[in-house]
Amino acid sequence: MMVAMSGFTPAGAAKAVPRAIANRAKQIHAAGEPFQIRLLTGASTGESVDERLAEADAISWRAPYQSSRALRKKINSGQVDFVDMHLSHLPQSVMFGHFGEIDVAVIEATEVTADGKVYLTTSIGASPTFLKKAKKVIIEINRAQSRDISDMGDVVIPNRPPNRLSLSLSHPLERIGKKYAEVDPAKIVGIVETDQPDELGGFTASDELSEKIAGYVVEFLSNELASGRIPSSFLPLQSGVGNVANAVTAGVGKSPDIPDFFMYTEVLQPAPFALMRSGRLRGASSCGLTLLPEQMQEIADDIEFFRDRIVLRPQEISNNPAAVRQLGVIAMNTALEVDLYGHVNSTHVCGQNIMNGIGGSGDFARNSYLSMFVCPSVAKGGKISAIVPLCSHTDHNEHSVHVIVTEQGLADLRGLAPGERARTIIDNCAHPMYRDYLHKYLDNSSAAHIRHDLQHCFDLHRNFMESGDMLG
Ligand code: COA
Repeated sequence: MMVAMSGFTPAGAAKAVPRAIANRAKQIHAAGEPFQIRLLTGASTGESVDERLAEADAISWRAPYQSSRALRKKINSGQVDFVDMHLSHLPQSVMFGHFGEIDVAVIEATEVTADGKVYLTTSIGASPTFLKKAKKVIIEINRAQSRDISDMGDVVIPNRPPNRLSLSLSHPLERIGKKYAEVDPAKIVGIVETDQPDELGGFTASDELSEKIAGYVVEFLSNELASGRIPSSFLPLQSGVGNVANAVTAGVGKSPDIPDFFMYTEVLQPAPFALMRSGRLRGASSCGLTLLPEQMQEIADDIEFFRDRIVLRPQEISNNPAAVRQLGVIAMNTALEVDLYGHVNSTHVCGQNIMNGIGGSGDFARNSYLSMFVCPSVAKGGKISAIVPLCSHTDHNEHSVHVIVTEQGLADLRGLAPGERARTIIDNCAHPMYRDYLHKYLDNSSAAHIRHDLQHCFDLHRNFMESGDMLG
């Protein structure tokens, strides 16, 4: 069966039904019978979905994004087929049947009415589309979620092309839809009551390294403001997932040089949320609330404050390329590795093993006014350089990448020809222990326009795979 579940990060993810499916899978496997489902969600999920189902060997196919250790292992050992997709594409693909039919949708809500209004919880994700397309629906009514959170929802399913009119979004907080999703009540085959909070994970606090990266980002944005390349009212920010992006947004919020700002983003993470209370973040459009448990409580305790400052949208609207371009979003996403010409790999270690997936980073990077990628210059204590001659996998090509930032510095690639790009990235962003190697690589190429050496472009990766250290 193709099963679709709510959830965009752990926010609003189904909880009781996936655990029951995992238990059933174990029982059926113990009896020597096969049992697996094909699983769609909005993005990554809470522990009850990917972690439990992967541990129970209950998933055969998965899309569009994940961040679970257990599932990652199964994907990288070939036991689960994984389809990595732009998250804005998912609802459309479901609507048009690219994955076949959806047999069952399992959707978390705070309320479902007799006439089929479904009030979603801490994320909207692809749930409105799953509810429309699934043959059968199970609703998890979660009493641990505040009913008020549902009122942050702004649900709209765009018309089918070619009649897909432009979005009338002139501001990140503009509401263009309804507070609820809709379902044909006749399709509801079960309602499960739960009271489990979102399975929110921990974020690491900002460290010296991410503060350095944030410092370069702030200096750059301040200069852009001063030169008029960013309007004095500033532009909406998007911040990618993970610890580094979270810390960088905190740094931007601390800077007196950056005006109070809005976000048009995919997930609202703890650091920007904290800026909302102080007034630095004036409001955020998001697809889900990926916060700390105490921050979720803060919303429930003071809904009057947050109600007008947060809008939760379906992923095809929160990540909509037209909206991102229309609003002039400044996108800040995270790279695993960047190559000398500005191509970015955000997903596959050594081009082979999935980390999480592209998520919404491509939706934003490609369409933003300014596309920045941040990452530490080295990983694993220096054994991996984030700056490599040629990316072992490319998620974002040079045309969608304007600025690279590491703790070593910032490379503004706008208007630079390939040779200048390469030297700027090496001198400004590579760790000093890798700079000589990278300059020599350039010098050894016999090409003139894009200097590559196809015999040696993956030597660093090969060294790492053979000896655990890129420098061998
Ligand atoms: N090769 C191998 N491993 C690498 C690496 C590289 N070039 N660069 C980083 N890593 C490892 C780190 O060592 C760390 O491993 P660990 O968990 O074993 O310690 C892990 O990758 C995560 O790195 P970290 O520096 O903690 O980054 P992060 O938490 O900020 O996450 C991404 C970085 C790229 C994995 C994450 O941002 C992501 O999945 N991005 C793609 C999706 C996306 O951008 N969505 C946002 C759209 S709104």
